[in-house]
Amino acid sequence: MISQQVIDKIFDVAPIEEVVGEFVTLKRAGANYKGLCPFHDDKSPSMSVSPSKGIFKCFSCGEGGNIFQFIMQHEGLSYPLAIKFLAEKYNIEIEEGQIDVDELKEEARIKEGVYACLEFAKNHFYERINSSQDGKVIYKPYLTERGINQQTIDEFYIGLSGTQRDHILQEGIKNGYTSQQLYDAGLVKKINDDQGIIASNLRDTFLDRIVFPIFSVSGKVLGFGGRIIKKDTKAPKYLNSPETVVYEKRKELYGLSVCKQSIRKNDAVFLVEGYMDVVSLHQSGVDNVVAASGTAFTEEQARLIKRFTHHVTMLFDGDEAGVNASLKHIQTLLAADINVKVVLFPPEEDPDSFIQKRGSTAFHKYVSDTSKNFVELIQAVKLAKNPSDPIQKAEAARLVAENIAALPDPLKRAAFITETSNNLDIPERIIIAEVNKFRVNSRKQKDREERRVQHDNKSAISEGPPPGFEYQPDYKQSNPADLVDNKNYQEEELLKTLILHADKEFNENLTVAEFIFNEFEEEQIWPISNEFSQIFKDAYAHLKEHKVLNELYFIRNAKSSKIAAEVLSARHNLSKGWEDNYEKFVKSDQENYKSHVIDNLNYLKLKHIDLLMKENQEKLKIAESDEDIMVLQQIHDNLLKIRRKITDQSGTVIS
Ligand code: UTP
Ligand code: MN
Repeated sequence: MISQQVIDKIFDVAPIEEVVGEFVTLKRAGANYKGLCPFHDDKSPSMSVSPSKGIFKCFSCGEGGNIFQFIMQHEGLSYPLAIKFLAEKYNIEIEEGQIDVDELKEEARIKEGVYACLEFAKNHFYERINSSQDGKVIYKPYLTERGINQQTIDEFYIGLSGTQRDHILQEGIKNGYTSQQLYDAGLVKKINDDQGIIASNLRDTFLDRIVFPIFSVSGKVLGFGGRIIKKDTKAPKYLNSPETVVYEKRKELYGLSVCKQSIRKNDAVFLVEGYMDVVSLHQSGVDNVVAASGTAFTEEQARLIKRFTHHVTMLFDGDEAGVNASLKHIQTLLAADINVKVVLFPPEEDPDSFIQKRGSTAFHKYVSDTSKNFVELIQAVKLAKNPSDPIQKAEAARLVAENIAALPDPLKRAAFITETSNNLDIPERIIIAEVNKFRVNSRKQKDREERRVQHDNKSAISEGPPPGFEYQPDYKQSNPADLVDNKNYQEEELLKTLILHADKEFNENLTVAEFIFNEFEEEQIWPISNEFSQIFKDAYAHLKEHKVLNELYFIRNAKSSKIAAEVLSARHNLSKGWEDNYEKFVKSDQENYKSHVIDNLNYLKLKHIDLLMKENQEKLKIAESDEDIMVLQQIHDNLLKIRRKITDQSGTVIS
């Protein structure tokens, strides 16, 4: 267990706007901040961050909570690991043993080992390029020759792999990592696929290569890209880590962890093809640059970029492969509503060689002189040779239309349709018709995909209990919500009221929290739904121990912070659907909270009574002796009386 002191210390030194701001560009909105939600495909900023309350909340997808929930969701970590993550970031010591390994889920434990392994390898490789004989005599001079200086090596942690086939395997094991962990990290691979993960069947993945660690946005090592420098070899020039439990290529961008601040500051990013382009541009002062490193550019990568800027300039080779790649990338970026320009480099040049030869001023000039939007690019490429060839023109128009169709914004579509019509001298209505054809087609395709997913999901749901396993109501074991209605509505309402008003006065003697818990105890109406009962119990324990209970407790408590974020998030950020709920809890008035408390408690009582009545009825059905029947009838009448009293009191009739 990690002590509450450590957790509180982290809360004290880690402002939520800073924790979230590390991953999402936040803009001030009154007392709060707003940004694009990283947890769904957010088109306009739906996530609100409240510095004063220490919570974030997405009004579109519903995700919300405190700093730890954010890190858990964002980094895919368990609660203890999220605490560790922030503790490390803010230099707060967690004593050895405070993280109970058994607390971690199996998957989290594997990931943790893999991260540690990769971090070790990164440091080891970096050490080697600086201090080993091979590093000093062969590999670093190669980088120096290519104009890469020590500061850049340090910043990107460029390193040198082993030059023997089991170098990292041996070093890893020597340093306490298992061969399984090294294998899971992608640092070693099997020689014989059919054999096990034992040292004799393993070899280093990277051999004789300069390695570029690939970092996550938050700076964790996920894998490596390795460049061979020998010329007389059949091995590929670049080799990348395989996909692992921590490295999903489609979701990462090389250079982002180093360049993200600059991308944000410039509100623009250069997208390049290779590791060397990123490193070299960065060194020359063009430090808002990332690479998709060797893979197709994905929707996920577009979304990742969008968290930092909406403006992408692609710097690609001018050869056919480069043009085709850039055309593919453009569509992905346009569909994500990112503004995109393309700069093609002359034959035999790439951004790295260009900037090394000619410097950053010439680079910027070249970029601004030759950058094209997609309409211009397609025109330049398709109509380069023969601008008036009707067949080429039709092909260009079709390709442009396909890209325009990908734009989510109708105004942008209209603007590009006009531009295309003018440029290609084709009537607008014809281009519009073509664009619509593409839109209809892609919608049809999407529908088909959605139907397929739905179908798959449906067939995965079982058809109810097998015969002989009929549901038997049992007061103690089952969830009353299942019996009375299928939501824990009353408990949720009451909890929200409690979060908003816990420390307010209920009457002369009691706070709202004290009153609610008194009622729970006296009336024996403790909530028993899985969803909320533990939150109430923990809050009660906290109240008894500390004599105070307020919203801060609910924000900081791991189980309640999400719902706390929901009720405490500020009103002006609300989307339409959420407003109705909000009315009920907040606007419906700070003074009305007492009647809310009473109403909600009454609802809860009714729920318990209905449950008892239902149970009683079941017994009546199977009762045999007259005496039993009489007793049960008596119970029924009593329950009915109590029920009536409550409904009369609160003036509610519950169907
Ligand atoms: P390039 O061949 O253009 O290399 O590949 P480069 O970036 O200019 O590198 P240098 O200047 O020769 O050192 C561009 C990118 O394509 C991927 C790598 O991510 C590389 O950075 N690639 C290339 C591979 O994955 N494997 C390869 O064999 C070659
Ligand atoms: Mn190059």
